[in-house]
Amino acid sequence: MTQLQFSTQSTPLLHDFDTLILPVFDNGKLHCSANSEGLENLVSRVIKQGDFEAKSGKTCLVTATEAFPRICLVGVGKAEEMNEKTYIELCQSVAKIVQQTGASNCLSLLTDALPKSKNGDWAIYQQTLAFSNNRYDYVHPSRGAHKPAKHNLKSVCFEADKSALNIIKQAQATATGMTLTKDLANMPSNFCTPTYLADTAEAMAKQYGFESTILDRAEMIKMGMGSFMSVAQGGEEPPKMISLSYQGGKKGDAPIALVGKGVTFDTGGISLKPGAGMDEMKYDMGGAATVLGVFKALGELKPAINVVAVIPSTENMPSGDAIKPGDVVTSLSGQTIEILNTDAEGRLILCDALTYCQQTYQPKKIIDMATLTGACIIALGHHISAVLGNDQDLVNDLISASQTTYDRFWQMPLSDEYDEQLKSNFADMANIGGRPAGTITAAQFLARFTKDVSWAHLDIAGTAWVSGANKGATGRPVPALVEYLVQAANG
Ligand code: BES
Ligand code: MN
Ligand code: ZN
Repeated sequence: MTQLQFSTQSTPLLHDFDTLILPVFDNGKLHCSANSEGLENLVSRVIKQGDFEAKSGKTCLVTATEAFPRICLVGVGKAEEMNEKTYIELCQSVAKIVQQTGASNCLSLLTDALPKSKNGDWAIYQQTLAFSNNRYDYVHPSRGAHKPAKHNLKSVCFEADKSALNIIKQAQATATGMTLTKDLANMPSNFCTPTYLADTAEAMAKQYGFESTILDRAEMIKMGMGSFMSVAQGGEEPPKMISLSYQGGKKGDAPIALVGKGVTFDTGGISLKPGAGMDEMKYDMGGAATVLGVFKALGELKPAINVVAVIPSTENMPSGDAIKPGDVVTSLSGQTIEILNTDAEGRLILCDALTYCQQTYQPKKIIDMATLTGACIIALGHHISAVLGNDQDLVNDLISASQTTYDRFWQMPLSDEYDEQLKSNFADMANIGGRPAGTITAAQFLARFTKDVSWAHLDIAGTAWVSGANKGATGRPVPALVEYLVQAANG
């Protein structure tokens, strides 16, 4: 697939383009650089004919006019009422409409309609992401005959000066990362196995010069990862601990660690899940896919920062060898765990990954991400991911990056009262804390393994994919994490 080119021009000449994306404000007014071309007449004719209203959300494609081969009119309503959600939705519909035409090189003046609280860089970021993500098409390995859509559109130009090229680069790297995240997550579990994730990581290591380490079952048993291995023991599919290291910063600078849950299929184990919708548990490696997507973006962007990835990956299967409710295991940290529900497996693999990560890399910060709890969907739905952590500055920085990108996080609390819900009579802790506050008690469990490090946890159960007619991975939260790391690299 050829990459879409993005460029900037401070004073673009309309005639250089075959397509114009033209915001029309409530009063029928146009952007100043579009004034001179007799476009105003054209637009008022289109409005008079009843084909278009300058109201927010309305779009209209006008083609083969004397003035222009193709104009995508975009109603933006009252400039002062524009908000982030509406703007992003406009970007997405414009990207879709334009890429369904024969448009080859287009000029977007949509930056002009940005929300009042945002700047031009933000608007260009959102447009770049929308155009790039609109081209996403999952192609399954065995669907050899499936021809990916042909793209006419080659280039998009924004009216801006060269300083916008940085944000364009970040948006493109983010989109490339999201594509990998979506491909891995959408791929069914009989293809996307722990071994497949490990192979993907190793291929990326080769391509971008990351260091990689893959641990197999025998090594992990020997090291004492009794918690992770208790989840993996029910399945025949070999589990893997996948690590990548990106050295963009100073040698010896402690890295930021990204840890991602990589359950390539979650049946629940002996605490078997109900059948309806179980196919969606192929997405239970969404955390792992996000970490790999972020690393893809790092490889493209090369920010001045050290980052490591640690991904525990396994299936969660019921079998004669599977772990059973009431069984007690010893984690790599030495703490013992009574497994009261084998479906709370994410925390069981993450706790050993968190310990292994600290022992191996001495990171200055750890951010883990996981499709961890159904309770998170009850609390926040499908729009916002949960963030919890033991370092308020880290949580604040993550929230700030999430607001910038509109890939949003919302904080939930940690507190000793919730931790008490994990009490067990037979081990240091139970792996479940009852129905109340399920997202928090899951994070309290992880907090017991990150006492000595700055740590934040992202529960992406509601945001990593969408169900229903448009079922598919979203590529979230790659945008927020790339933004966070870029900010961390800059200071
Ligand atoms: N992977 C699931 C969480 C999940 C469920 C994510 C549905 C997205 C959609 C996780 O392993 C799980 O099963 N969690 C249990 C925990 C419970 C047993 C304490 C849950 O949320 O029901
Ligand atoms: Mn589960
Ligand atoms: Zn799970």
